[in-house]
Amino acid sequence: MPERVLLVGFMASGKSSTGKELASRLGWDFQDFDTVIAARAGKSVSRIFAEDGEGEFRRLESEVAEELLARSDTVVASGGGWPAQPGAWKMVTEDTLSVWLKVSPAVAVRRASGQGSTRPLLHGGDVTERATALLLDREASYRRARYTLDSEQYGPLELAGEIMKLMKDMKLMKEWTN
Ligand code: S3P
Repeated sequence: MPERVLLVGFMASGKSSTGKELASRLGWDFQDFDTVIAARAGKSVSRIFAEDGEGEFRRLESEVAEELLARSDTVVASGGGWPAQPGAWKMVTEDTLSVWLKVSPAVAVRRASGQGSTRPLLHGGDVTERATALLLDREASYRRARYTLDSEQYGPLELAGEIMKLMKDMKLMKEWTN
C-alpha cells in the first residue's frame, strides 16, 4: 500500500473534492497545499499573490510541499502550478501514489467561474486563452504522475473509487512480487 496519495492537475480539476472523498473512505487525513499556505501566511492565496508576488507564493508552496509529502496515511492535493516548479517531483517518493486529474482548459474555466473562483491566475482578460497556454506549459509535468484519470467525465465520488481500486491493485502486485 502507498503511504500517501498525491493529486495533481490544473485549477478546478477536482483535486480537493476528490481528495476529501478519498481520505474519508480510507480513514486518512486530507491536506491541501493552498489551505496550509494561507493558514501559515495568515492571508489568502490571492492576497499573497497581490501583496508579496508569485515568487513568494512559490517559496511558501515548496516549503509546505516538502512537509506534506513526508506525511503518512494522508491524501494531499497540490496546487495547480506546483508540479511545474523546478525540483517539485524530487519531493515525490516511491511510496507515494500520484494521480493526475485531467481536465480541459474550457471546463476548468467554466468550473472555476461557477465556484466563484478567487484564483489569481484566472482573473481578468481572456481567461480561457490564458488557461490554455498555462495547461500546455504544464502538461508534461502533470504527466509525470503515475496514473491519469479523466476528471471531466467523472465526478469526485467516481474518481475516489477509481483511486481506491488503483491502491488495491498496487497492494496485490506487491504481495505477488514478494
Ligand atoms: C495555482 C493554482 C491554485 C493556487 C494558486 C496558483 C496555479 O491552486 O495554488 O492560485 O498556478 O495553477 P488550485 O489548483 O487548487 O486552484
